[in-house]
Amino acid sequence: MAELVVVANRLPVAPATAADGTVTWEASPGGLVTALTPVLLARRGAWVGWPGTRAGVEGEPQAPAEIVTEEGLHLHPVELDGDDYERFYEGFANATLWPLLHGLIVAPRYEGDWWESYREVNHRYALAAAERADHGATVWVQDYQLMLVPGILRQLRPDLTIGFFLHIPFPAPEIFRQLPWREEVIRGLLGADLVGFHLDSCADNFLELCRNIPGHGSAHTGLPDTLEVTGASSVRRATGAVTAPDGRRVRVGSFPISIDSAKVIERAGRADAARVRRLTGDPAVLLAGVDRLDYTKGILRRLEAFEELLATGALDPAETVLVQVATPSRERVADYRRLRAEVEHAVGRINGRFAELGRPVIHYIHRPVAFDRLLELYRAADIMLVTALRDGMNLVCKEYVACHGDASGALVLSEFTGAATELDGAHLCNPHDIESVKRAVMAAVHADPADARERMARMHAQVRDHDVDLWAGAFLEELAAAHAGGGPR
Ligand code: ADP
Ligand code: G6P
Repeated sequence: MAELVVVANRLPVAPATAADGTVTWEASPGGLVTALTPVLLARRGAWVGWPGTRAGVEGEPQAPAEIVTEEGLHLHPVELDGDDYERFYEGFANATLWPLLHGLIVAPRYEGDWWESYREVNHRYALAAAERADHGATVWVQDYQLMLVPGILRQLRPDLTIGFFLHIPFPAPEIFRQLPWREEVIRGLLGADLVGFHLDSCADNFLELCRNIPGHGSAHTGLPDTLEVTGASSVRRATGAVTAPDGRRVRVGSFPISIDSAKVIERAGRADAARVRRLTGDPAVLLAGVDRLDYTKGILRRLEAFEELLATGALDPAETVLVQVATPSRERVADYRRLRAEVEHAVGRINGRFAELGRPVIHYIHRPVAFDRLLELYRAADIMLVTALRDGMNLVCKEYVACHGDASGALVLSEFTGAATELDGAHLCNPHDIESVKRAVMAAVHADPADARERMARMHAQVRDHDVDLWAGAFLEELAAAHAGGGPR
């Protein structure tokens, strides 16, 4: 039994199939697992999540009941079959909640059978966590796929300390209120002792939503007549509190996530940036974009801005190269399929207009890339383009900045990313305004060298000093305090 249980949609592993057909489950390193591994090991921890393959589907590796990683982490797979995958994962999580919480970049779909599946699968995760958690243990639930889990767990196991962290944005209340099942989702979240967001603005949106809950006071919602909201948004790590339907006070706070800065800095020191520059034809200006192929990332707008800069001669096609890495993601969801077609059409068009033999202006990679290869690209790039239309935090820009401890490079950053509140040396842009993106790129190209170095040094220090360990520690500390009962600080 575990003293600390992390519940996330995915387990931090991926199946690897050998030539003889044997399957091993290999760790897929990410900031979250790196940060949580030491805490989990120290507290007999467990991780509950989906192994990433569909149960009962022929040809897909089937996970065992428990996976123990090399470091000794105990991972407990929750099974999703083909139907759960379509309705819970592709449907409610990624075609309803994802666009809704990102502020309607595309239209969310509201389907009753997807919602039924979401409830059912959230129950499954909650049961799996309840089975592993020791009496009085702490359970930390992650992200939008599992917003009902805190409420279900609270009913199953009133002895637990329960935290919830949302890794994506939380929108203005009038947007969230579109959701036909809004009361149940809010009640689910209020099962936690602490609900965390990246930014004060998202925490405030949630508090505001709770304050003016639709159906407020009706027996149907089960919410109380008066919801108490206290605290000031200027106070970090404890924005306020809400009284849950069962009378408990739920703290709400902001905890901006980061990366494993020391590891990235150390590995970047060994990255062969010269190789990337050579392979891209030693351009005078090397630009890079690294994103999941997701409509929230603003990839198309970035390509269009690049095209216009080449067309007007602001950037010289003979001297400028853009490397765009676009990781495949949620490929059967209609909006993602459409986006891929549009991005690939744009890449083809732009190369068609400006490439010479052996000199494409865009190098496009639509595959997962080994982390060390990404680091080489980060090290090599003169300008990193992060033009998300909306992003909870965005870790790519923090990784880029961590790779530039020598104060080289420049960051073009969307003001709609969480990171924009922290990285004050970036060239900010409004990705909805192509002129603004073009201006930010040209400001980075023509920056005064001393100013550019000063900007990057400032951002590097920020990321170096605020890593993912600090984030996890701050959340867990606040969670313990919230459970112990004190009001918001
Ligand atoms: P999101 O979580 O929405 O995908 P983030 O920028 O916050 O966006 O995090 C993306 C993470 O995925 C980063 O840690 C980045 O290094 C990693 N990543 C992005 N593209 C690739 C790729 N092609 N191959 C491997 N890892 C990638
Ligand atoms: C974002 C979400 C994560 C999710 C990741 C990859 O970072 O916040 O919860 O795991 O994207 O998406 P996927 O659908 O492949 O898990």
